[in-house]
Amino acid sequence: CGIVGYIGQREAQPILINGLKKLEYRGYDSAGIAVYENGEIRLEKSVGRLSNLEKKLEKSPMKGSIGIGHTRWATHGRPSDMNSHPHMDERQQFAVVHNGIIENFLEIKEELLKKGVTFKSETDTEVIAHLLADLYDGDLVSTVQKAVARMEGAYALGIININEPDKLVAVRLASPLVVGLGENENFIASDIPALIEHTRDVYILNDGEMAVITADRVQLMSTTGELIERTPFHVEWDVETADKGGYDHYMLKEIHEQPRAYRETLNNRIDHENQRVDLSKEIHLSEDEIRAIEKIHIVACGTAYHAGLVGKYVIENLVRIPVEVDVASEYRYRNPIITPNTLVMVISQSGETADTLAALREAQKLGAKVLAITNVNGSSVARDADEVLLTHAGPEIAVASTKAYTAQLITIYLWGLYLAQIRETQSEEVIRQYIQALSQLPTQVEKLLEFAPTMKQFAERYAHYEDLFFIGRSLDYAVSLEGSLKLKEISYIHSEAYPAGELKHGTLALITNDVPVIALATQEDVYEKMVSNIKEVNAREAYILGITLEGNEEGLSKSVNEVIAIPRTLPLLTPALSVIPLQLLAYYAALARGNDVDKPRNLAKSVTVE
Ligand code: G6P
Repeated sequence: CGIVGYIGQREAQPILINGLKKLEYRGYDSAGIAVYENGEIRLEKSVGRLSNLEKKLEKSPMKGSIGIGHTRWATHGRPSDMNSHPHMDERQQFAVVHNGIIENFLEIKEELLKKGVTFKSETDTEVIAHLLADLYDGDLVSTVQKAVARMEGAYALGIININEPDKLVAVRLASPLVVGLGENENFIASDIPALIEHTRDVYILNDGEMAVITADRVQLMSTTGELIERTPFHVEWDVETADKGGYDHYMLKEIHEQPRAYRETLNNRIDHENQRVDLSKEIHLSEDEIRAIEKIHIVACGTAYHAGLVGKYVIENLVRIPVEVDVASEYRYRNPIITPNTLVMVISQSGETADTLAALREAQKLGAKVLAITNVNGSSVARDADEVLLTHAGPEIAVASTKAYTAQLITIYLWGLYLAQIRETQSEEVIRQYIQALSQLPTQVEKLLEFAPTMKQFAERYAHYEDLFFIGRSLDYAVSLEGSLKLKEISYIHSEAYPAGELKHGTLALITNDVPVIALATQEDVYEKMVSNIKEVNAREAYILGITLEGNEEGLSKSVNEVIAIPRTLPLLTPALSVIPLQLLAYYAALARGNDVDKPRNLAKSVTVE
């Protein structure tokens, strides 16, 4: 979910709505705003996209200059008008927006029910509004503190009260929240991009902190009332990148931004004169500490997890350190074996994914140093990790991740090479070859993007099927998983990624002429084996699209119906190229099926609940 708040001299409504537009990537099941207007708090909310709320507000816009807003990704209670935020107490004294989960809400709800409070919704947030009203002592700040003392969980809150219409209170416990500082106006939001059109000076709240905000002042304090002094953080971002720049969808724009994302992520990290990777300005681990690493755990969710799977091949091959890869929601609860020389790497585009953040904290608790690869500087993951490598993909808005994934791959290559240099597991000559091959990737991607019209044609054909398989061996399997996820997320076609050699041990039973197969064959060492597996699906009359290296097209075309060839590079680097046609395929398949590409059903860009 995403929250915003405004207090100042201007009309709050348009500012809140604009802020919510920037936050829709965090969920878009429903939206709502509450604004203080002529002695009362007016509330408007609506299920579905923000545009539904805007339509409701057209008839009678809210007039007032303090308010809060929310865009929701349902956790407690299905998406509905009732369950949308903000929530208010029975006497309409408090309005609350909330991101996260109140774990003990049922217990508090029961207490309030006994006192005769009636609830309108199924949400944990409504409980907060009633709890505030129940604990109200005439002072907003101390009431909030009392309520927070009762609430367990991970959350961020924005609260206004009818009796103190010059005040907005924000609270953070383990869900992101920033305060934006303006001239005679101040803002709150779940992230920086939602504020950037108004101000670049922000306070990033830490866990257990709250902010008491008036139009001309922001006072930070702990939720137990100790005042906190802090210098604001100045954001150096460029905003121009946040609009669609002429493309029909953010996703397509972001796919096309990949050459730039590769360049920016490589930039300043290669010492061209000595042909070495240099991360020494960003990584604080000493060479001795790097030499001491015995094993690596990579932990992430979704697409970032798929980048981690590529990371295993890269690090194990270049550095010979054993690597385990886990999805974050599993890692935390599997009692991972962390030795003093285990390095945990977390990968997260947003840096706010609750599962990843929880895994990071668990790893630190168990004594591991954590290296984060993230796209958002100042995010929770970036701030909590011991070491940070940023991906410079720029803001990613489409829910289906593209440029963030490939920028993660580039960062993993750099990190792997950096480790290899220090641990001397690869010769200078090999490092030099990698550096050259890495520098060629952006131009190779540009070339691949020219396949867009071809991929569109393929996609239109595939869009009619309901089931599809991606197969590949070794790194091609890791990329297949990402290609398959991309397709599922936005086209809603059921698909599975399978290790090509394993298919015959059961799953081959599903292959018919109704189930097309996308076969990746870019790994030279298993090429012949892969061709045999392709023949196995060909014999079951599957319609096959083969993806291989330039030069192999002709040979492969004997066993497949269509071929796409990617430019040649070093074997470990192929994922940074082979995923591009798969991204385009998913995009055009979703388009052909008439889906909302940037905002697929049921998903959110950044999931801040576990
Ligand atoms: C959500 C998104 C996925 C994303 C995953 C991890 O589920 O829908 O696209 O891969 O979170 O996000 P992160 O920001 O941690 O990379």
